[in-house]
Amino acid sequence: MGGLGEVQFDHLWLGDADLRVCRGCYACLLHGEERCPLDDDRAEIEQPIPDADGVIFASPVYAMGMTALMKNLLDRLAYTMHRPRFFDQTALIVVSAGAAGIKETQNAIPAVRYMGLDMAGGRVGLRMLPRPWTRAERRRILVETERAGRRFFHALERERRPAPGFMDVAYFRIQQAVYDVNREQQPADYEYFADHGRLNPSRRWYVDVPVNPIYDPGARGGVGHPPTGARPPAGPARRGG
Ligand SMILES: Cc1cc2nc3c(=O)[nH]c(=O)nc-3n(C[C@H](O)[C@H](O)[C@H](O)COP(=O)(O)O)c2cc1C
Repeated sequence: MGGLGEVQFDHLWLGDADLRVCRGCYACLLHGEERCPLDDDRAEIEQPIPDADGVIFASPVYAMGMTALMKNLLDRLAYTMHRPRFFDQTALIVVSAGAAGIKETQNAIPAVRYMGLDMAGGRVGLRMLPRPWTRAERRRILVETERAGRRFFHALERERRPAPGFMDVAYFRIQQAVYDVNREQQPADYEYFADHGRLNPSRRWYVDVPVNPIYDPGARGGVGHPPTGARPPAGPARRGG
């Protein structure tokens, strides 16, 4: 990618990070990530993402899926799927495997789209046997990696993210309605949406991008429970992020 333009690149080896296994206590989902009982690197891992143009999620295939380290990262950032926030970032998914499980893993990691990431950066699956590679294998891996890098770079260069698809819009509308109805049970989600103007019925998506009106016939509160956008009564929780 360096040959295409100026690129600044930071990396994190999840194996080096102090990121404990999610306990499933729901504190982050319901009351805000600052309520997570695990005192580790989770906040430091999230902190640089909003300043980045893109994020590369890379995992080998272990037992037909992503590594436990990668899955735990997604688990520990699950609150960003409730309260999506990485809309200025493009994702690239990189998966390596000896033989099998590339598709399954490539289809699982893109759950990061629910954090807001633009998936136009693409995905690449590299077959890498755990032995010295032949020249042909090395060449193939290099070609596929360069192709993925180019695509990612061009996606990063785009001024505007692609318009959301039907399922993206539907997912937003579902969250909007559910958080409004469940404001007492899910105060962190409700407050985050209220603070970001996402409970406004005229809001068509999380952020202000063109939305195909065909995807959103319920705009302006035409169907279902009309969200109010009102602030919740004083409660114990503060939103995070
Ligand atoms: C514990 C373990 C499980 C693995 N499971 C699979 C698998 O299910 N399918 C596969 O194709 N390769 C599997 N592999 C091979 C790796 O995915 C492959 O060699 C990969 O390129 C290793 O990347 P790494 O050197 O970055 O760990 C496994 C390797 C290990 C160590």
